[in-house]
Amino acid sequence: MQKTIFITGASAGLGKATAKLFQSKGWNVIAAMRNPAKETELNQLENINLVSLEVTNVSQINETVKSIIAHQNVDVVFNNAGYGLGGALEYATDEQILQQIETNLTGVIRVTKAFIPYFKQKEAGLFITTTSVFGFSSCPLSSVYNATKWALEGFSESISYDLALFNVGIKTVASGGIKSNFVNAMQFAGGKEYEVLNESMGKLISNGQLFQFNEVEEIAEVVYKAATDGKDQLRYLAGRDAEQTAQERLQEGADNFRIKLRQSLHIKSPFERTL
Ligand SMILES: NC(=O)c1ccc[n+]([C@@H]2O[C@H](COP(=O)([O-])OP(=O)(O)OC[C@H]3O[C@@H](n4cnc5c(N)ncnc54)[C@H](OP(=O)(O)O)[C@@H]3O)[C@@H](O)[C@H]2O)c1
Repeated sequence: MQKTIFITGASAGLGKATAKLFQSKGWNVIAAMRNPAKETELNQLENINLVSLEVTNVSQINETVKSIIAHQNVDVVFNNAGYGLGGALEYATDEQILQQIETNLTGVIRVTKAFIPYFKQKEAGLFITTTSVFGFSSCPLSSVYNATKWALEGFSESISYDLALFNVGIKTVASGGIKSNFVNAMQFAGGKEYEVLNESMGKLISNGQLFQFNEVEEIAEVVYKAATDGKDQLRYLAGRDAEQTAQERLQEGADNFRIKLRQSLHIKSPFERTL
């Protein structure tokens, strides 16, 4: 039987590439996005249906999910919508902080919650969530973004026990850098005193030390693998940079990894001075 995937943030980047890949593999795709009226590519493809969804809107989430499951089968939910908030925390407005958390974290929790009774009732289903290399390691000047992605890893691991009771799976795709609209869509909080750190970080990004930019199709292939390989595996690393970071962090230990990154950013330890 033809399978169906529901994808959030399908208007661009990884969400769109995943929609195209699953469609090309014979899946039915429900592509959720904020502005379906603006979409010109996915609506030309057979077996892709566009639905309107802003993931910070809880009533829209509940109504959309209710109407989808009333009419069709869903096998996989891909929680992918997200964006980055960069800059120093002290300069971020409360609105910027909440918007980041409500989009990247609460949005995923709410979409997952809305689909659980349906998957539970049919005793089948799989959730996949896009996290990040910064969902298990870290980078400077994006603490709230890092917090949302770490939280998604914790959320997924914890709820994996609950969902397993009903034969429902959950996985994450921890992606390295992706060539997408992400950088353009980023919001920035500012912070002049942090400029020196921003510059050192820029150098690490340009020489590929912090992460590298992978082709979006390559990351979509990992989503497809996670959806279809039947493995009891929680986290899928996507991209060579994510694999390398995970390996280094495991070999060196989390503290040494963090200290080494801080040293490459030319920052002294705050614990050097005796108190
Ligand atoms: N790019 C990277 O380097 C990178 C690395 C690791 C992980 N990720 C993660 O990968 C995922 C996809 O990002 P991308 O790289 O594909 O970036 P992208 O090209 O900017 O796509 C982001 C998608 O999320 C949607 N979105 C943002 N806020 C939303 C909201 N409130 N409600 C509904 N949809 C919303 C965007 O919709 P609109 O078109 O309406 O804005 C867009 O469809 C994100 O979760 C991101 O954190 C990205």
